[in-house]
Amino acid sequence: MALVGLVGWRGMVGSVLMDRMQAEGDFALIEPVFFSTSAVGGKAPAQAKNETTLKDAFDIDALKRCDIVITCQGGDYTTEVFPKLRAAGWNGHWIDAASSLRMTDDAVIVLDPVNMPVIKNALAKGGRNWIGGNCTVSCMLMGVGALYKAGLVEWMSTQTYQAASGGGAQHMRELLTQYGRLNASVRSLLDDPKSAILEIDRLVAETQRGLSAEETKNFGVPLGGSLIPWIDKDLGNGVSKEEWKGMAETNKILGQGEGFGTPAVPVDGFCVRVGAMRCHSQALTFKLKKDVPLADIEAMIAADNAWVKVVPNNREATLRDLTPVAVTGTMTIPVGRLRKLAMGPEYLGAFTIGDQLLWGAAEPLRRMLRILLD
Ligand code: HSE
Repeated sequence: MALVGLVGWRGMVGSVLMDRMQAEGDFALIEPVFFSTSAVGGKAPAQAKNETTLKDAFDIDALKRCDIVITCQGGDYTTEVFPKLRAAGWNGHWIDAASSLRMTDDAVIVLDPVNMPVIKNALAKGGRNWIGGNCTVSCMLMGVGALYKAGLVEWMSTQTYQAASGGGAQHMRELLTQYGRLNASVRSLLDDPKSAILEIDRLVAETQRGLSAEETKNFGVPLGGSLIPWIDKDLGNGVSKEEWKGMAETNKILGQGEGFGTPAVPVDGFCVRVGAMRCHSQALTFKLKKDVPLADIEAMIAADNAWVKVVPNNREATLRDLTPVAVTGTMTIPVGRLRKLAMGPEYLGAFTIGDQLLWGAAEPLRRMLRILLD
């Protein structure tokens, strides 16, 4: 049985990964070795078989025993440990949720319902580094990957509505704490149906602007009742790193563009943080290479994988099925608001949502594990 090292399994993404592995019976197929950065020597979780104590996640010799290592520990851990492990001659498979290695030449961004041929090709060539994609990109491609696979996309613009969880667990807590503060600041006025709404609004704005550095330390500014049109680093050219990832990762996942000798499909737009919990949403504009009937587009998208669901473009279905609240905690990737846009028959609009902890983070990793075990 393959010895599979698990690192960062207690964090938010790691916990979702553990739940999914449990639900899909993955632990029956592996001998798990649980690593820790803080509780070395402690008791491993119930899924452990023979390896019942927590090993040191920085112990290269302990990691070297593993056939496969899966890490959700984060980018700093990868940057520190991965080069040492390879330098020590380890030839196992490294499956990683962090972005550190994503764009390296010998790494594949894994999203097998979309890029199984790219994965298989890399495996055949001795590939050993399998990295989960940016959550926004992975969720988008799970929804509309069919259009890319069919070679129909001339370019795509995306406007995102990204949830607090993309920042991390502390960001989710901060958002909820802010919502609570806002509510508390106007509770007595809300209880009085005759109170003046503009007074409530004024007090909310005052509370938002008055939030302390401690109350905004994760996002930097208030998010509750507001939004933040910048995610990740400032690349210094007017583009946020999250926006840059849209084009770079979409093309790399699909095995096209730089490094593959084929033209990249332009992908660009604005990435915006909103006060949702764990579902990333995106409004997409496509310029297609030709005019394809809308019914054909809907059929292609619906048939692409087992998780995508085309939502009829009407108000009732949209309100029922195309919201973060409807999607959260599920594997479903709804794609709705599909319609031709006023700019012409080759312009297609769509709206899609995905749980960024499931398809956006944990699920592609455990699926890669299963591919390796096959
Ligand atoms: N960068 C993403 C976000 C996290 O901040 O929402 C998932 O890749």
